[in-house]
Amino acid sequence: MKSDITLTVDGQRYALTVDNRVTLLDALRDNLGVTSAKKGCDHGQCGSCTVLLNGRRATTCLAFAVAHDEADITTSAGLAQDGDLHPLHRAFIDHDAFQCGYCTPGQICSAVGMLDEARQGWPSAVTAEVTSAPPLDTAEIRERMSGNLCRCGACVNIVAAISEVATGRRLAAFPSAAEPRQERWS
Ligand code: FES
Ligand code: FES
Repeated sequence: MKSDITLTVDGQRYALTVDNRVTLLDALRDNLGVTSAKKGCDHGQCGSCTVLLNGRRATTCLAFAVAHDEADITTSAGLAQDGDLHPLHRAFIDHDAFQCGYCTPGQICSAVGMLDEARQGWPSAVTAEVTSAPPLDTAEIRERMSGNLCRCGACVNIVAAISEVATGRRLAAFPSAAEPRQERWS
């Protein structure tokens, strides 16, 4: 069985017909040719396929495309605007935190999403005091990024890159991931 759906990906609107069994990741890559999100494990275990789905980070290999008709999706590639990299892109470069092309796009999207979650006061498994916005120390960043794996163990600088953005040293305030893309960068 097939269904007609509409997706907005990195600001561009697409109408497509998908088999109801197709994942959002396969719809992005195979139907639309959007390859920023990567297929690592295809089992929800590595985080390579993470995008911002309606402003929240999500693993697209675990999502059916048909269940996300009218969704707004931002990939790591779409976080750059008019030739300007997102502050997290920049921080990853400056800290030599970029890894391979498989895990990095998901890590960038996950970092944007988790900074927004923390800003909104969402606790993590290591948050000691859940009644106030958690401090984004090393333990918090590690826990919140724990769904994004690097098989190579070459990820020692990621925490430093995210910490720089989280503490405002990179940019005092960058747009919320939950806001519509066009408004975030206007
Ligand atoms: S490809 Fe989706 S979590 Fe690994
Ligand atoms: S999986 Fe990408 S650098 Fe290890």
